[in-house]
Amino acid sequence: MPGIISTAPGKTILFGEHSVVYGKPAIAVPVNEKRAKVKIIPDIIAPKDSIQFVASQIDLNQNYHQLEGNHPLKVAVDEVKKFLNISNYPACKIFLETTIPISSGLGSSAAISVALIKGLLDFVGFQSTPDIIAKLAFQVEIEFHGNPSGIDNTVIAFNKPILFQKDMPIEFITLGATFSILIADSGIKGNTKTAVARVREKWTENPAQFNNYFEEMGNIVLEAKAMLESGNFQSLGKLMNFNQEYLRKIGVSHSSIEKLIEVSIQNGAYGAKLCGGGLGGNIVVLINENSVNQMTNLLLSTGATGIIYLKLGAGEY
Ligand code: MEV
Repeated sequence: MPGIISTAPGKTILFGEHSVVYGKPAIAVPVNEKRAKVKIIPDIIAPKDSIQFVASQIDLNQNYHQLEGNHPLKVAVDEVKKFLNISNYPACKIFLETTIPISSGLGSSAAISVALIKGLLDFVGFQSTPDIIAKLAFQVEIEFHGNPSGIDNTVIAFNKPILFQKDMPIEFITLGATFSILIADSGIKGNTKTAVARVREKWTENPAQFNNYFEEMGNIVLEAKAMLESGNFQSLGKLMNFNQEYLRKIGVSHSSIEKLIEVSIQNGAYGAKLCGGGLGGNIVVLINENSVNQMTNLLLSTGATGIIYLKLGAGEY
């Protein structure tokens, strides 16, 4: 059994985070500039079902059997074993690494799950599909996030821009132009689980108002899909700003995010909003390609701790 390498991209949500949890559509795109990587090598001296995980970035060197029952890595292995209908997995060592910043809305946990599940299936010679991988990774997301919509594992497994809606077929988006997007890290760690739980609490207190917000956010998403397809930068930017207004209303923005958004808009960005769970994490800024350097410098001098330049190319997906 030869060793294998499996990778998966990060992701960002362009429109519709949080409202997607309540059944509304959302738009997500892969971020191939940042990736999770899994290397699996056979361990010929270990007993069967011995799976040694090594992730030096988080000081992890533990066997699958020592991990807690709901540990995401253990859940991923268990899901694969269940799917393959096997009780023992071939003994191996699994090395995990990632360049995706954690707790920042870029899908680091889902990318690890997708890369791992793809690798585990590949290692035993199973020809997987993005659909199978997305479904198995969703089970891991449930352990990790509590009440995920499924958008992160789906966009990462398919590695294409998508319009996602719970319990609906995935719609792939054909971009009508090349979009220049800066993803700027506020430096504040956001926790998706906490953000989703907080929104749920507020929704329970005021369901009519929050359902109305989610409805409006869903409408923004549908308009945004049309603008991505027609390549209308100005309108797309306005829709991002509009989406951000609702993210503020549902209480997931943060002062560090607002500062970065304000500076972007004042300096000519088409639009900007937080992306992912919020309460920190990253923002997405839609800009003219010619202002990439200037806007990058500006965001860094305003406190952004990292910038990713995402060029979403027409004809690339
Ligand atoms: C997380 O990337 C996006 C949220 O909408 C949660 C989810 O959809 O599971 C905040």
